[in-house]
Amino acid sequence: MPVHEIAQGNALTVKNLLAAFEGESNAHAKYTAFAVKADADKLHGAASLFRAAARAEQIHASNHARVIRQLGGEAHAEIHAVETKSTLENLKTALGGEQYEIDSMYPEFLEEAKTHDNTAAMRTFNWALEAEKTHARLYSEAIALVEGGKADSWVAAARDFYVCPACGYTSEEPEAERCPVCNCAWEKFEVIR
Ligand SMILES: [Fe+2]
Ligand SMILES: [Fe+2]
Repeated sequence: MPVHEIAQGNALTVKNLLAAFEGESNAHAKYTAFAVKADADKLHGAASLFRAAARAEQIHASNHARVIRQLGGEAHAEIHAVETKSTLENLKTALGGEQYEIDSMYPEFLEEAKTHDNTAAMRTFNWALEAEKTHARLYSEAIALVEGGKADSWVAAARDFYVCPACGYTSEEPEAERCPVCNCAWEKFEVIR
């Protein structure tokens, strides 16, 4: 990263953006692998959820990358090999990752960006934080269904999820005219199955 091009006051914000970019890039890789495993486990609805969340993480990564470049940095991430287990365990791993981002990572990064009044960074962190909450809710629901042996529920059959192309907000059904997080028009949402 060409550190000399980054204004001193933005150094920590850029460091956080890079950490978030790396996290989101790896989450995308992880969920993509988990989707393949879920299909093999005949949990096609869970596979659809993993694919939708993977798409959302890709949106977060590119939003973060845009701000990194605006601040004079360069987005790069090391993608780690993915370890897949049973789909139930993969769902729990995914939920754990989302919880970490919701409870510690994004609130801390947001706070730091606020200190420097960096509105572009605040926006990309906030959008990701709010979208991760939708993933955590959907993963929790899927875990309860798999643990409850509800093989006839939505986790079993491939289904549509709706992903906001701007912020990654993810929903199991069309909700309103606009994305509740970023105000994007609902008709622009991507349908991921
Ligand atoms: Fe997520
Ligand atoms: Fe959105």
